[in-house]
Amino acid sequence: MTDQLLVFDTTLRDGEQSPGASMTCEEKVRIARALERLRVDVIEAGFPIASPDDFKAVKAVAETITESRVCALARALTKDIDRAAEALKPARAGRIHTFIATSPIHMREKLRMSPEAVLEGAVKAVRHARQFTDDVEFSAEDAGRSDPDFLCRIMEAVIAAGASTVNIPDTVGYSVPAQFGELVAMLRNRIPNADQAVFSVHCHNDLGLAVANSLAAVYHGARQVECTINGLGERAGNAALEEIVMAVRTRQDVFKCDTRIETPHIVAASRLVSTVTGFAVQPNKAIVGANAFAHEAGIHQDGVIKNRETYEIMRAEDVGWTANRMVLGKHSGRNAFRARLAEIGVTLKDDAALNQAFERFKDLADKKHEIFDEDLQALVGEDALEA
Ligand code: KIV
Ligand code: ZN
Repeated sequence: MTDQLLVFDTTLRDGEQSPGASMTCEEKVRIARALERLRVDVIEAGFPIASPDDFKAVKAVAETITESRVCALARALTKDIDRAAEALKPARAGRIHTFIATSPIHMREKLRMSPEAVLEGAVKAVRHARQFTDDVEFSAEDAGRSDPDFLCRIMEAVIAAGASTVNIPDTVGYSVPAQFGELVAMLRNRIPNADQAVFSVHCHNDLGLAVANSLAAVYHGARQVECTINGLGERAGNAALEEIVMAVRTRQDVFKCDTRIETPHIVAASRLVSTVTGFAVQPNKAIVGANAFAHEAGIHQDGVIKNRETYEIMRAEDVGWTANRMVLGKHSGRNAFRARLAEIGVTLKDDAALNQAFERFKDLADKKHEIFDEDLQALVGEDALEA
């Protein structure tokens, strides 16, 4: 049997921390519905103590969503946890996610707390959160730059205090895949009560490695990934949900686990988040970019016409595109040209007419980036047979 990899989506919380990406309460509920349709396991809806609007949005999501667990973020402080619990009251299934920083620089410069005080605060917070729910997640903020021995101690203590998920955030995107994977493996091996909690990762993309780091962690036994649609998030963003989900689905031989995500809803969710935030998706973005399943080179088009698997490792339809796309441009070959003519119902008199039309097409393609169906109609002109 394949292990389940839990998907914890934080588009509404960490994603919203992306400068310029703030969302209204109604927009958050719409996105939460799209996430539920995707069958995301946990939706982190916000940080209720941060503002009255955040509180309202978490409450509204908790009132609406029935199939996914709804989560609220709280610092390791009683007042934050109380506010999170209050916002989550209407949830069918709720989770309190409490965090405190564990790296030397954060403890010394930001919190101005000793490691012992941080450990004590973390345990107290988890115990307090457990009074409201038995689903408590603890995050060691900036774990990627924390002392591994201290991480072992604090994780062991919070699991003993009742945390059922322990999260290892690479808060500033400092980690690299081999080392981050080994960190997860080491924690799982050394923490005596590790089997009583799900190990989770939360990677930021400052070095463009958020997805690679998350996957290295999954390879070494992490069973929850925190991610966002389109990789939205603070600074360079978070790990992209669509990339992690499709990597794991496509390479189950490597990862030995899978998510429950209904992948045909991925493109719709990506478009919704892009429309709501105004953040365009780059055309060459994996999975959801407009060119992710487009072929232009003649050799590639010829291969795909003969068998899609020559140049496609997943099916466009499986992530929500209606089909793959052959782009007719200057790199396209005669086969793709002929195939597109057939698709739009154009038949040429004979091979000579096809060759002449193909030459005209190549001349035009040198001047124009993409050749559309109207260009083809004009280009074949009188050589086309009447349908
Ligand atoms: O990046 C981070 O460390 C976070 C935590 C609150 C999990 O977003
Ligand atoms: Zn984060």
